[in-house]
Amino acid sequence: MVEAGSHMCPEFTQRNRWRHGRRFWMPFMLKAASCSVNFGTLVAYLIKFINLVGDHQYRQQTSPFQSLRVLLPDGSYVPYPKPRALETHEIPGVVEDYRRAAINAIRAGFDGVEIHGAHGYLIDQFLKDGINDRTDEYGGSIDNRCKFLMQVVQAVVSALGADRVGIRISPAIDHLDAMDSDPVGLGLAVIERLNKFQLNNGSQLAYLHVQLITAYVEAESGRPGSEDEVALLMRTWRNVYQGTFIFSGGFTRELGMQAVANGDADLVSYGRLFLSNPDLVLRFKLNAPLNKYNRKTFYTQDPVIGYTDYPFLQESRSRI
Ligand SMILES: Cc1cc2nc3c(=O)[nH]c(=O)nc-3n(C[C@H](O)[C@H](O)[C@H](O)COP(=O)(O)O)c2cc1C
Repeated sequence: MVEAGSHMCPEFTQRNRWRHGRRFWMPFMLKAASCSVNFGTLVAYLIKFINLVGDHQYRQQTSPFQSLRVLLPDGSYVPYPKPRALETHEIPGVVEDYRRAAINAIRAGFDGVEIHGAHGYLIDQFLKDGINDRTDEYGGSIDNRCKFLMQVVQAVVSALGADRVGIRISPAIDHLDAMDSDPVGLGLAVIERLNKFQLNNGSQLAYLHVQLITAYVEAESGRPGSEDEVALLMRTWRNVYQGTFIFSGGFTRELGMQAVANGDADLVSYGRLFLSNPDLVLRFKLNAPLNKYNRKTFYTQDPVIGYTDYPFLQESRSRI
């Protein structure tokens, strides 16, 4: 199980925002960890640095997106500010924030962390040539674009040990304009570097978690992928990575079992089905019917509706 959280900027002071890189978010993390470990689940904390998606420190005041609005937790709207590039000298501080956030996650009771290098979050913006327009040592060549990810991996692994660190990437997803001209090549480039890192480090990362195309488009946005494209990506990346491989995106119970049985994945992860079925594992074991998710309650501010109000199997049966 992975709990997601946002790794925010140091000086950001807006109410209702968290900065667990600096331990301010610890109470929430403790609660999330304790809720989950009671079920005997291995829990990883997904560390992401929001930047493009929502962090105001890294935005300029004036924006070409003035007509777009951002919904704040209190229900009000603010204009969408224009993001700015991190200065080269700021990057070591951000890498250090990842390291600190990872240490805090373990202190809060998580078993490990997943470094979020997918879905248009900060690391993905460095990786993709369609969005990384930097002219310093972090932009241009594929080696340069992978540098930030690898520095974060190095920093987090040095703090926790490799076996507590997973990594999520989505080379073929173009959510939030984070697209690459060669997704297969980008995935391979990241994987080659992770393989080399593991070899030099003498130990394996917990896993590599890759999001496939089709389902992300259903859940979020972007370009739809064909079945052939998805199969090609799965086999190409899976065959090269030397370690535990997780795929996510559009898996049903049957498709998940098939992917593992075929050797296309070691593990499969579930998003929407997990959200709408609090006892998904039990339902899969029993091959029981599943609750249908309600797309209208995705990404809403209510802490209950659409998040913790889906019925357990027993409740569903007693309602029939
Ligand atoms: C309500 C909801 C919230 C999500 N939040 C995030 C998020 O914060 N970060 C992220 O990278 N993906 C997020 N996702 C995407 C999921 O991690 C997953 O990639 C997606 O749902 C596809 O997997 P699935 O087909 O099993 O649902 C979210 C999905 C849903 C439905």
